[in-house]
Amino acid sequence: MDKFLVEGVGPLTGDVRISGAKNAVLPILAATLLGSSESTIGNVPHLNDVTTTMSLLGRMGCGITVGDNMTVAVDPTLINDYTAAYELVRTMRASILVLGPLVARYGQAEVSLPGGCAIGARPVNIHIDGLRALGAEISIDGGYVRARAGRLQGARIAMDMVTVTGTENLLMAASLAKGESVLENAAREPEIVDLANYLIAMGAKIEGAGTSTIHVQGVDSLTGCHYDVVPDRIETGTFLVGAAVTRGRVKALNTVPGNLGVVLEKLREAGAEVTTGDDWIQADMHGNRPQAVSISTAPYPDFPTDMQAQFCVLNAVAEGTAKVIENVFENRFMHINELQRMGADMTVEGNSVTIRGIEKLRAAPVMATDLRASASLILAALMATGETEVRRVYHIDRGYERIEEKFHQLGAEIRRQPDK
Ligand code: EPZ
Repeated sequence: MDKFLVEGVGPLTGDVRISGAKNAVLPILAATLLGSSESTIGNVPHLNDVTTTMSLLGRMGCGITVGDNMTVAVDPTLINDYTAAYELVRTMRASILVLGPLVARYGQAEVSLPGGCAIGARPVNIHIDGLRALGAEISIDGGYVRARAGRLQGARIAMDMVTVTGTENLLMAASLAKGESVLENAAREPEIVDLANYLIAMGAKIEGAGTSTIHVQGVDSLTGCHYDVVPDRIETGTFLVGAAVTRGRVKALNTVPGNLGVVLEKLREAGAEVTTGDDWIQADMHGNRPQAVSISTAPYPDFPTDMQAQFCVLNAVAEGTAKVIENVFENRFMHINELQRMGADMTVEGNSVTIRGIEKLRAAPVMATDLRASASLILAALMATGETEVRRVYHIDRGYERIEEKFHQLGAEIRRQPDK
């Protein structure tokens, strides 16, 4: 395991190039299984979760070729195994995303239940109920989801909760079902739209991706193709919050301003001058301390839960008091204890935390817990007196490409060391 040593050296300033979105590339790599020929995916971020997904597909017998400049080719025609084993799934719950494609294309799947993770129980009941509605026979035993199906039949599926990967699994399965499917109460995240655009490029007939109701006209087969993954809106938001926290100026390049709507509004409310172009966003604090800004997380297009920890750090060093409410996951405040060790003035009550800003935090040894919280500890360390030790950075490597290099380009002092 590695740890980061992070020195609080003052404002972040400069440009940072945003990588492809983790939460788009994972469903898209799974969706390559639906094709009757090879797909080449571009703008693939170099992340541990991507490596895990390629191992998963490789073990199934798919041909995997990693090209230069961030492309991955997947040839599903050689597949000979329909299992996603526990030892891979437990390291990455998004492995559940192979379930829909395997059932729809091959009529069988043995996928380990992902199990909970740091931020919550994270059941997959909606995924399973939806596949049953499409005609799959599904049993759960020994911690595995075992599915069998002939040709799936289109159906109207009303999801009880808004679920991102649930919507993705069912969208992929419905693409090859016979007849029409309607997904109601669908998630609206930009990553859903990106997956739908890839499926459409393969020949799927999908309307309404990005809205709460998605119509799918099933087709008999899908053809592999080239597709470039959308830039990561959460990585973008994380670096822009870094500018706010350190009173600096950061310009995120190769990103999609339209995908960060409410996050940019909240940064403006915190006092950042936010300007945008076609594929860039700049947040400039002009050296000023951020103003406290309250947030309440909810599915897209409302405030993303994946940006909650970052705004806790912003509020920790802001002028004023703010309330942060987490409505999506039941245990996504583990970063609070770590920030309190750095001197943050925070009080948790149920799913909300009241934060009273202080000028600067104090360096302390802290522990990364979940992916987005871990990146937030780096932001906190950048606005702390002294050198902070952030342990268990493997969480960060799962979702942020070369994060210490990107922060270094912005003036931060981050050293990676083995953590004995
Ligand atoms: C996706 O997780 C993302 N992961 C998460 O990002 C993100 O935080 C989350 O969506 C919310 O935006 C990927 O896309 C790979 P959900 P997902 O299903 O799909 C409940 C990161 O850091 N639920 O939308 O697993 C669930 O318990 C990760 O990049 C059910 O009850 O989240 C949760 O409370 C963290 N039954 C809520 O819905 C189900 O069958 C939303 O979960 C499915 C979900």
